[in-house]
Amino acid sequence: MSKLTHEVFEKNTGLLVTFIVIAISFATLVEIVPLIFDKNAPEEGGVNKPLPNMRPWTALELEGRDIYIREGCHVCHTQMVRPLRAEVERYGPYSRAAESAWDHPFLWGSKRTGPDLARVGGRYSDQWHIDHLIDPRSVVPDSVMPSYPWLAKNEVDGQKVQAKMRLFKERFGVPYTEADIEAAPDQVLGATELDAVVAYLQQLGIAMKGQR
Ligand code: HEC
Repeated sequence: MSKLTHEVFEKNTGLLVTFIVIAISFATLVEIVPLIFDKNAPEEGGVNKPLPNMRPWTALELEGRDIYIREGCHVCHTQMVRPLRAEVERYGPYSRAAESAWDHPFLWGSKRTGPDLARVGGRYSDQWHIDHLIDPRSVVPDSVMPSYPWLAKNEVDGQKVQAKMRLFKERFGVPYTEADIEAAPDQVLGATELDAVVAYLQQLGIAMKGQR
């Protein structure tokens, strides 16, 4: 672009803003529109198609996920490994959109006070998580993570678990079977909130394990 034309844009804010908006909208369209129509790309078979070895959250994990949200864990922890070398080396394979196909709401985020948790499943033992959630300083002396001792005392309230699963199935197409829904209250019966959160954490990223 000639110097003169450039100057016209730079000196006219309205024009500059209009063209910036056009440029950004165009870039967004180029990135997003093909994904809407391309059922077979990228990678694991379409943005909305779950990975081959994915399964929906069990009743206990689903309750754990809701407690995770209730306690604000997602405010300090993302669940999204970015496609950058440093991230992949630290956490494991970068996050695919397909992994969150059944998560409503998804918990990606961009604010990390603590580490990303998208690949934390299987990294520690259940006992480590229990100790860590009750008192983070007992296992990580410098930790600034809050303690969640009440999780060990509260029992999971399984009253709504069937309704939640039905909602996920009917509204969002999560493939729960009637048998899954039928068995749900028994699965959470007598479990503590800590059991539920640990069950959930231990499954994070499992479907992506071994893939890179
Ligand atoms: C105020 C911010 C904050 C909140 C809220 C928070 N965490 Fe953390 N979390 C941290 C920090 C900082 C660390 C790193 C130090 C440590 O391991 O304790 C951490 C570490 C972790 C780890 C270990 C991750 C790894 O790869 O080593 C897990 C698991 C975890 N948090 C789970 C949770 C859960 C579950 C909740 C909600 C019940 C939660 N956190 C709430 C800040 C937070």
